[in-house]
Amino acid sequence: MIRAAITGVQGWVPEYILTNKELESMVDTNDEWIQSRTGIRERRILKGKDQGTSVMAVNAINGLLQKKGISPLEIDLIICATTTPDMQFPATANIIADKVGAKNAFGYDLSAACSGFIYSLVTASKFIESGSHKKVIVVGADKMSSIVDYTDRQTCVIFGDGAGAVLLEPDESGNGIIDSILRSDGCGAQHLHQKAGGSMRPATHETVDAREHYIYQEGQAVFKFAVKGMADISAEILEKNNLTGDDIAWLVPHQANKRIIDATAKRMGLDEKKVMINIDRYGNTTNGTIPLCLWEWESKLKKGDNIIIAAFGGGFTWGSIYLKWAY
Ligand code: UT7
Repeated sequence: MIRAAITGVQGWVPEYILTNKELESMVDTNDEWIQSRTGIRERRILKGKDQGTSVMAVNAINGLLQKKGISPLEIDLIICATTTPDMQFPATANIIADKVGAKNAFGYDLSAACSGFIYSLVTASKFIESGSHKKVIVVGADKMSSIVDYTDRQTCVIFGDGAGAVLLEPDESGNGIIDSILRSDGCGAQHLHQKAGGSMRPATHETVDAREHYIYQEGQAVFKFAVKGMADISAEILEKNNLTGDDIAWLVPHQANKRIIDATAKRMGLDEKKVMINIDRYGNTTNGTIPLCLWEWESKLKKGDNIIIAAFGGGFTWGSIYLKWAY
């Protein structure tokens, strides 16, 4: 049986650090509130003219190819999970493939807000399992600072910029992606969206003046759904695979709020030591959070480790993946 296994991971974050202290000078907030309500100390911001999401994705992928010692020409497919594409079209994945020299790859973007990386991972795994493709890159990348309203204290303290890429290859030894549960419910759109810039409300002077090109989020409503959604789906995948918290080496949760992560770990009966958390340093990088965690924890992971990945985000979209680490 062919499974899709992650055989390499690489992250990339911009140099500029936006601290809670600096945010205090921009909006009516304070370090104590941000840390206690979200767990965030600082986040990275991609600065510079004409710098889009692809810049971060390309840096992550180039690092990954170098680390693995493989040529970009060997890549069959690039899926870019993003909510902040460089442009409406073409797909950022196409721009990335061109910039990294992946001349033999086709690629597309996948849009599922904060669940985009896990949706993409599952989608990519099907190309590998079917035997049609051998080397697939999934890159999760977002320049959230491009859609954050830095006059809105509810959202501007949460988000950051970053990217992470994984290589997926066939594995016949029992490791790789074993199972997944993916869900969505469009009733959540009202609570978390970007009002203008799409086909329903194209950009006009009025939409810009009304600040409708930024993230609109009803924090509390999203929080309630997220806490339940991410904890339930993580418990469900354990049960479905006859696992308990004791069988799990690591939980890789989407980093939206430390309190959501804690609730999920508790529900799974997991000790905090088994939970990857870097929200304190990067905030919520949307599609970047999960690969950035895998990248930072890579040296601690062991072949055969049982790993649960879980996410919840705009849409609403949510889901979990059970995999066995392959190296
Ligand atoms: O990844 C995509 C999915 N998104 C999420 O999962 C985000 C889910 N939501 C959250 O993480 C939280 O709802 C937030 C972090 C956005 C907000 O935290 P909260 O604990 O839900 O705060 P709240 O909205 O209930 O506000 C509590 C108080 C309010 O003041 P009053 O009305 O009690 O006087 C807010 O005005 O905190 C105030 N507040 C702030 N104070 C200082 C809201 N934002 C801030 C701020 N600094 N940045």
